[in-house]
Amino acid sequence: MIGVFDSGFGGLTILKKFLEKMPEYDYVFLADNARAPYGSRSFATVYQYTLQAVKKLFSFGCPLVILACNTASAKALRTIQQQDLPKLNPQNRVLGIIRPTSEEISKYTKTKKVGVLGTLGTVASKSYILEIKKLYPEIEVFQQSCPMLVPLVENAEIDNIAADYFVKKYTSQLFEQSSDIDTVILGCTHYPLLMKTFRKYIDEKITLIPQNEIVAESLKNYLSRHKDMDSRLEKNSSVKFFTTDDNNIFDQRAEFFLGKKIKSETLEIF
Ligand code: DGL
Repeated sequence: MIGVFDSGFGGLTILKKFLEKMPEYDYVFLADNARAPYGSRSFATVYQYTLQAVKKLFSFGCPLVILACNTASAKALRTIQQQDLPKLNPQNRVLGIIRPTSEEISKYTKTKKVGVLGTLGTVASKSYILEIKKLYPEIEVFQQSCPMLVPLVENAEIDNIAADYFVKKYTSQLFEQSSDIDTVILGCTHYPLLMKTFRKYIDEKITLIPQNEIVAESLKNYLSRHKDMDSRLEKNSSVKFFTTDDNNIFDQRAEFFLGKKIKSETLEIF
């Protein structure tokens, strides 16, 4: 199975694309709703929580785990890959979503000025700046944290004046840093659900990049290049959902993110 992890519901927007593009695989989705949001937590805490989730997914028999969360990818992925994976299971893989998103960016920007909207944690980690600089030193990255957006999306408060107010505020703070930005990465798995509102406040000329499409294409490409990993993955088109919090609440909210009804189970990972 492919393990897909997020702190909460946002990773479902990534899973949705995996299911559209690679429906044949078996997936396990794990959401740490009991401890979400991760966005404002310290490096040590996000690392500790993410490692617990990865260990749980390995114990389910997932040789490949995708951290479908920018905050976990920013704060925990590197340490898990370098320190923990060799001890836990060197044949297994843990992949994040910041690297594949950064790889695509040069296709879109002409001014070489890119904006990133994300959680406090993602922005503080400077992961997008570092990744993009490594790949494309000529591109300048401007960031803006949007701490109120995850709570609004988690509560399905997306088509109202509160969402409008905060999207307008954060996007104008981003463009105050540079009026030459021509590409904006929605660097949080929740933000694609606010796409309409972002479009209201970001000029049509500017390319808005949700990650789900890019991450799904990148995984598809990874699996076509890594036949050894691909052969370890079952292909019965099954999906299982686990949450660390109330599974009935998870099922109700998940429908909003995934666009279909699901049944999850509650699981302790700590
Ligand atoms: N899924 C997280 C991300 O993409 C946001 C939610 C959180 O703050 O836990 O950054």
